[in-house]
Amino acid sequence: MLSIADTPAMLFLGLMSGTSADGIDAALVSFERNMPQVLATRSHAWPADLRNRMLALAQTETTLDLDVFGRLDTEIGNCFADAALGLLEQSGTAASSVVAIGSHGQTVRHRPTGEFPFTLQLGDPSVIAERCRIDVVADFRRADIAAGGQGAPLLPALHAMLLRTPGRTRAVLNLGGIANITVLAADGDVRGFDTGPANGLLDAWCQRQLGEPFDRDGVFAGSGQLLPGLLEGLLADPYFALPPPKSTGREYFHLGWLAERAPVATLKPADVQATLLELTARSVANAVAQHAPGADKVLVCGGGVHNARLMQRLEELLAPHSLCSTAEHGIDPDFLEATAFAWLARQRLLKLPGNLPAVTGARGPRVLGAIYSAPDAGAS
Ligand SMILES: Nc1ncnc2c1ncn2[C@@H]1O[C@H](COP(=O)(O)OP(=O)(O)OP(=O)(O)O)[C@@H](O)[C@H]1O
Ligand SMILES: [Mg+2]
Repeated sequence: MLSIADTPAMLFLGLMSGTSADGIDAALVSFERNMPQVLATRSHAWPADLRNRMLALAQTETTLDLDVFGRLDTEIGNCFADAALGLLEQSGTAASSVVAIGSHGQTVRHRPTGEFPFTLQLGDPSVIAERCRIDVVADFRRADIAAGGQGAPLLPALHAMLLRTPGRTRAVLNLGGIANITVLAADGDVRGFDTGPANGLLDAWCQRQLGEPFDRDGVFAGSGQLLPGLLEGLLADPYFALPPPKSTGREYFHLGWLAERAPVATLKPADVQATLLELTARSVANAVAQHAPGADKVLVCGGGVHNARLMQRLEELLAPHSLCSTAEHGIDPDFLEATAFAWLARQRLLKLPGNLPAVTGARGPRVLGAIYSAPDAGAS
């Protein structure tokens, strides 16, 4: 019997919406053996009203209403299905030629530590399977958490496959809602963890002050002055000094976190934005200095790569490490995560592990995700 590992080229579709909730990223990926090749990509915007309700549910102070929760699960699932169907149509791909969709879902809570750790993503995979008529793999993080891990980050395995250079130490930096780094050591060792906040806090402050979804190119931050006292207060948060494995989310780093540490309402809004940008850059630079001191290069992916001011500060703070976008290594920085979920879906079908225990802290390698079957061909 032919297994999918033996088949030369197979299509998978990855769907991702990160902590910034800026939109759904979709990538159509073929595999030559284990190596992914991205064939087509698409960004699908969240309807504004759905995004607002989704983010409201993710606030820790929101009282849980199970009806709201259940309905959002279905609505988000429909939106993920729209993103997948849009990509199939755009690329002229028949659903029947896609082996499976890997869907991350939208994280509404990530609590990887404590007596009863959990992580929760919404976006009903059955809805996606039904509408796309493609098998869906979802719920990628919980097996790792059940095995004592953080359930995150899950990207380092793919970073290692795509961006490692034998004999050299490199770091891969993902500037998403939260920032995370992967350290690809010269000896083949792979580590990775969340360094702290990135676009999530920058977006939230910008949204509150200017009504804009994000600070394009860091212009708002650039119009303000760094507030050293505020920066020191924020960097004193114990998360930054915690040793890895560690992961975090918007339930920890949010505007309430900021307000608890400083009377931000009395400060000049642009100065706060400048300080939040510096917080991202410093916390990343400190993590690289501590965990990847020998790295010759830091390769950047995630939406923050487009923030010219943030990249400039990182370049200054990281010198003499050189900084560049993963685009310079042939990898679209905006679709690496969606590609990772296509790869993770393939790993699941092959019954191969998706986590790296050295990264997440899990007791061992685990096959990640659950399979939601599409209706049989010919079924109505
Ligand atoms: N031109 C730009 N200038 C400034 N910031 C930008 C620009 N383009 C994108 N961004 C930022 O990138 C963010 C989206 O990044 P990304 O999609 O990687 O985050 P994410 O979906 O939260 O991912 P993750 O799962 O890694 O947290 C936007 O919310 C915005 O803050
Ligand atoms: Mg995103």
